[in-house]
Amino acid sequence: MAGDAQETAPRTGPGHVAIIMDGNGRWAQMRGRPRLFGHHAGARRVREIVEACPDLGVRYLTIFAFSTENWRRTQTEVAGLMTLFRRYIQREAQALFKAGVRVRFIGDRIRLDDKLVSLMDDLEMLTSGNDACHLTIAINYGGRDEVTRAAKRLAYEIEMGRLSHKDVDAETLARFLDTHVLPDPDLVIRTSGEARISNFLLWQSAYAEYEFVDTLWPDFTRAEFAKVLAGYGARDRRFGAVRA
Ligand code: FPP
Repeated sequence: MAGDAQETAPRTGPGHVAIIMDGNGRWAQMRGRPRLFGHHAGARRVREIVEACPDLGVRYLTIFAFSTENWRRTQTEVAGLMTLFRRYIQREAQALFKAGVRVRFIGDRIRLDDKLVSLMDDLEMLTSGNDACHLTIAINYGGRDEVTRAAKRLAYEIEMGRLSHKDVDAETLARFLDTHVLPDPDLVIRTSGEARISNFLLWQSAYAEYEFVDTLWPDFTRAEFAKVLAGYGARDRRFGAVRA
């Protein structure tokens, strides 16, 4: 808890942490269980990590739940994940609301089923007045897809005469991204020992720090999260400048 020395929020902690939650499948396979068993264990870990954020000084948490590439998995796994997302929203909505968490979803909703989209809309609406912690869940999300959709909308605004190509700069484009209301992530964590970005927050992570941990996501505890955040506090971020 907050009183535990190891879990004290670092003074210069990351305000926005993004997590690639990897390793559910291997965690299940190691136990001789189907991959979905690992995803269910992963969902329990999501709850623990979200709950830890206020104590650890993390105001924004963005998690990668389903990528634009994940549709290539078996029909059983994809359907199981979609059911898990629906159940997670139904089960956690009230607790998230009461804890002051504002929930947002990023990604293209076009391929998601209506029931899931309607639950996502309801949860965003329910928690829209909250400000203690901002949880963003990426579903059917891909960094390239997001930038492409943003560019398409930007081009449309130009075509309609509402914007001139002369006004297009990085800030203008960022206003069309799914994340336009969020600050850029300070720290991106990936579990399971893989050192890849996998199309996650490509634009937004330009100056983010990365931390790759070997732990499989279902084993990633609050204590380990706190340790990673403490390590971040010791880093020297210069954003391309030299130290004064
Ligand atoms: C990657 O591990 C994980 C996913 C594709 C799904 C992430 C989903 C969860 C953590 C479930 C709960 C999420 C919410 C928001 C309720 P993998 O399956 O690719 O693992 P592997 O590399 O070991 O196969």
